[in-house]
Amino acid sequence: MKPAAFIFLSCLLMAPLAAQEAYLPWRAENFAITQPLGGLRGDAARGREIVASRERGNCISCHMLPIPEHPMHGTLAPPLFGVGARLSAGELRLRVVDEKLVNPDTIMPAFYRDPARYHRPHPDYASTILSAQEVEDVVAYLVTLR
Ligand code: HEC
Repeated sequence: MKPAAFIFLSCLLMAPLAAQEAYLPWRAENFAITQPLGGLRGDAARGREIVASRERGNCISCHMLPIPEHPMHGTLAPPLFGVGARLSAGELRLRVVDEKLVNPDTIMPAFYRDPARYHRPHPDYASTILSAQEVEDVVAYLVTLR
């Protein structure tokens, strides 16, 4: 292979890795993560898009949510109507980050678990499902559900 072609192909392979942001550690206490991930500020409108998006959160595949423009909502999980009144922001954050810390048998994916804790993940999956900013956006949206 010519050096130029090699460099070009290497860059193509590097691009997805470079796009992955560094994992930000968090601390759970009393079934809550009280501090926003990385001190980031969530945006509720973006969070609403993420929970409905098939490509991002896809929360509506399991949960019913007050998002009427999406007709199909799953019934595998409890509806999230009013969840912002039942749980604090910190409790919501822990459940989005890793519901398995609340219920080890849950079918809900851990959206922000330390990738190093997965056993030999395929490189495509060696990152969190949502970014730290996306988790904060989703939490900001869930808080509004009262
Ligand atoms: C594969 C199905 C599935 C998906 C996808 C899913 N969840 Fe869940 N979720 C559950 C189940 C089932 C529960 C019930 C508790 C348990 O199993 O631990 C739950 C519980 C919760 C709770 C706690 C509700 C309560 O009243 O205590 C919150 C909050 C939550 N999910 C938010 C989300 C958000 C936000 C997303 C998307 C980013 C999401 N879930 C995606 C299945 C899912």
